[in-house]
Amino acid sequence: MYLLKKGKVPLQAHVAIPEGLCEEEHGRQGFSGPVSHLYRIHPPTGWVRIEGPLRPRAFACSALATQDLGSSDGHPAEVLRSPDGGLFISRRATSMPYFVRNADGDEVHFVHAGQGRFETDYGSLPYEPGDYVVIPKGTTYRVMVETQPSLFLIVESEEAIRLPERGLLGQHALFDRGLLAAPELDGGPAPSDQAGGETREWEVRIKRRGEYTRVWYPFHPLDVVGWKGDLWAAKLNVRDFRPVTSPRYHLPPSVHATFQAGGILISSFVPRPLESDPEALKVPFYHRNMDYDEVLFYHRGNFFSRAGIQPGMLTLHPQGIHHGPQPQAVEASKGKTHTEEVAVMIESRRPFVVLPEFEAVEQKDYALSWSRS
Ligand SMILES: [Fe+2]
Repeated sequence: MYLLKKGKVPLQAHVAIPEGLCEEEHGRQGFSGPVSHLYRIHPPTGWVRIEGPLRPRAFACSALATQDLGSSDGHPAEVLRSPDGGLFISRRATSMPYFVRNADGDEVHFVHAGQGRFETDYGSLPYEPGDYVVIPKGTTYRVMVETQPSLFLIVESEEAIRLPERGLLGQHALFDRGLLAAPELDGGPAPSDQAGGETREWEVRIKRRGEYTRVWYPFHPLDVVGWKGDLWAAKLNVRDFRPVTSPRYHLPPSVHATFQAGGILISSFVPRPLESDPEALKVPFYHRNMDYDEVLFYHRGNFFSRAGIQPGMLTLHPQGIHHGPQPQAVEASKGKTHTEEVAVMIESRRPFVVLPEFEAVEQKDYALSWSRS
């Protein structure tokens, strides 16, 4: 297809949008494929009623009664599932009495709250809020909680987690690979952890196709005293993510991509200056994300583009139905020069299914929050 123009349109997208009109981006392949900009009289999110399965949804993750909150023996709760990957919430109150090994895929644990450490085959990694902890498929590990409860958003992907190509930005943007922290071996398990006499057993739970197989050893399973290679558990904190911005042009959310795994993309929205050119758009443009379901997890700050959203909440915007700034957000953005929010976006090429347990913490009126003034 070739470039066409019909009607009265600005020459530069996202800049000098005609007074009283709304700009919508209609595109393929996220924000990098064929695309048109549509200039509308009404916001495409100005519906009064929705029937059927597609609607924006919001959930309070910090109110979810996960199994691992009630019992140290419990597991995280699976909340969303697509053929590309799954999302889980863990609200672990106490350290894991067992070890776990995921044979279904790689895991990324985003730490929303709490401190402690991951003990893995590769050594120990301390965690704190804002950390992404990447655990390769098949790694044996456990979570040791120091401040409780810890809240983790866990992304599971059958395809290996990798760093996105940065193209012309170069390989040291948006964080230097030297900032990926590796675990420390600390000389193996502590003597107190190995003690217990001849009857002591250590349990490893192996997850395959969502089912656990329990294996017991008469010795501590994290007995690695040395390793070498390019597959290891790693950690990155969002504070080390240095976003790209433009003072004169609203960049699409895809510039914040942090990790990629097949059809799953994980992106970080961190504090940054907003566009300073008075003609440049400051809030996200309307779109109907045709090729990805979009999940946003709100970690910290004031989420000015979405009213009524608190830290610890998660929104799901499915493919096909519009989303964009709420009317209040457009007004609120006018005097703003910076954003202080921290949020994590998880996109899935194939649609997510909401698992029934998650519906218990759904904020039911979220889909109508665009029509309020
Ligand atoms: Fe979006």
